[in-house]
Amino acid sequence: MLMNALRLLMFSLLVVAFLPLFMLGMVGFMVRLKTRNRGITATAYEPLFNRMLFHHAGTRDDRAAVKLAPHLPALSPSVAWLMIGTMGLAARLSGYQGSILSYPGARPSSMILMMVHRTAFFDEALASAVDPTGPHPAQQVVFLGAGWDTRAYGALRDRPLRVFEVDTPATQRAKTQALNRAGIDARHVTFVETDFGQTSWFDALLVRGFDPALPTFILWEGVTYYLEEKTVQTTLRTVSGLAVGSRIAFDTFSLEYFSGFLGQYANLMIKGFYGESLQFFMSTAAPARKQASDFIASQGLALAAYEPVGEERGKTVPAGGFTLAERSG
Ligand SMILES: C[S@@+](CC[C@H](N)C(=O)[O-])C[C@H]1O[C@@H](n2cnc3c(N)ncnc32)[C@H](O)[C@@H]1O
Repeated sequence: MLMNALRLLMFSLLVVAFLPLFMLGMVGFMVRLKTRNRGITATAYEPLFNRMLFHHAGTRDDRAAVKLAPHLPALSPSVAWLMIGTMGLAARLSGYQGSILSYPGARPSSMILMMVHRTAFFDEALASAVDPTGPHPAQQVVFLGAGWDTRAYGALRDRPLRVFEVDTPATQRAKTQALNRAGIDARHVTFVETDFGQTSWFDALLVRGFDPALPTFILWEGVTYYLEEKTVQTTLRTVSGLAVGSRIAFDTFSLEYFSGFLGQYANLMIKGFYGESLQFFMSTAAPARKQASDFIASQGLALAAYEPVGEERGKTVPAGGFTLAERSG
């Protein structure tokens, strides 16, 4: 307990000492975001930064993320080091592994720890889906709205699986270039270009060798809220037509929470910073788990797992939730 408090103190002091460097990195990132990242995802940097921090803190291995980052359009080796390297150094020097650096993180979940719990929930969903001893081991893994996700370049690399990454054409091009420059072997991954709002990701996958008869795991992390409700429904309904045992894991923001002051403020910040508005929300009115279950049931899927972001207490509703939905037999 005392040791942890000392580590936190040391971490905080180092963060304050590194703050000028961090701010310099932030300015570099903002400038590059506006000048070199046009038409490419801006929202995918935040989850990447979180996964890099876990790696630096020694709580979750993701060396591919650390290798990839300096080659992405809004980053450079110096910007990546100033922004994330410094914070990682503060974590390593202090040995602090709590709060936003923790993994899989203490429960219950909270808005502040959302990225910790989100990463852990999806890691667990992926690991259990591809477990060969499970009831319907996935033979295909699809990262829908893959952004800068690097799970395909870790433990998945040596598995007998078909791996697909789906995203917009500009983002896919930026990622494949960055993977090349970083020297990350991506030969086992099929990159598929689409815009969920305009074309069918499913048709685009079929053209690239996706087999709908095989049990499939789809990771749809950090995407639903940027889409229209009908696009979310179409995606879930498509999954309900895949092989029995196929699963899709996704996160949502709460309709009730984002109708309130805090939520509207968060929405404005996201719009101002990333230029993207939140469009789709799912109710978390108590019991939130039932809301998720009912929503996916209306799209032909069954609930395999659910975790609310934040507690359900009195009038307090969770800010969102993580859902694992299954095509049952
Ligand atoms: C917040 S990022 C999440 C990236 C990644 N899943 C992760 O968690 O690190 C959202 C991703 O969804 C993609 N995306 C958003 N809207 C899309 C659309 N209409 N069609 C295709 N991709 C889309 C973005 O390009 C971006 O890569």
